[in-house]
Amino acid sequence: MTDTEPIEIFSVIRERRSVRNYTDRDVPDEALRAIIAAGIQAPTALGLQPWQFVIVKDRGLMRQVSDYCKPILVEKIGEEARSGTEEFLAALKSPGFNIFYNAPVLILVLGAQEAVSSVLDCTLCAENMMLAAWALGIGSCWIGSAALVQQNPDLLAALKVPADHQIVAPLIFGYPGPLSPKAVRREPQVTWIA
Ligand SMILES: Cc1cc2nc3c(=O)[nH]c(=O)nc-3n(C[C@H](O)[C@H](O)[C@H](O)COP(=O)(O)O)c2cc1C
Repeated sequence: MTDTEPIEIFSVIRERRSVRNYTDRDVPDEALRAIIAAGIQAPTALGLQPWQFVIVKDRGLMRQVSDYCKPILVEKIGEEARSGTEEFLAALKSPGFNIFYNAPVLILVLGAQEAVSSVLDCTLCAENMMLAAWALGIGSCWIGSAALVQQNPDLLAALKVPADHQIVAPLIFGYPGPLSPKAVRREPQVTWIA
């Protein structure tokens, strides 16, 4: 790398945002392969690369997962009653709401149970995937709510999650509809020690 080389990655990092509004345009398999290829470039503890991927395009199955998770989330979020969750809680109570925002693709990043740092490793992989997608004009969002599906053996079987793996990152992908503004970042507290 030279000082004069344009560092395009900074604009991808700066501009990426969670997309919750998708067009029906199909995401080509080639793009999904490129996104996973970027994911697996992430660093991993001991170089273990403890991941597997499940690509779900079956909207009916995604709907089933959403329908399963929604009431559990309503109960959980209702119990916690934290400020800022009111809007999401109201959406969850609406029968038409889909936790995957009707995205055309869900990719589950699965972490091997036996690997020491699989959650951290798969999280780094997931961020690479979301940044690569953005660079290709494809939106994404981490749907943590979907991890609740791990309590349902039938759905886990339908999602082909092996028993020795856990769902770390449920990521949706698709071509964005009109974009929401980027969420504002707080000034970071930084301590310098020289
Ligand atoms: C671990 C994790 C879980 C998340 N789960 C959800 C979710 O269930 N539903 C959702 O709409 N967004 C979810 N998000 C997206 C965050 O809400 C989003 O990243 C955050 O508000 C910052 O916005 P940005 O991604 O646009 O910068 C999740 C993000 C992370 C990292």
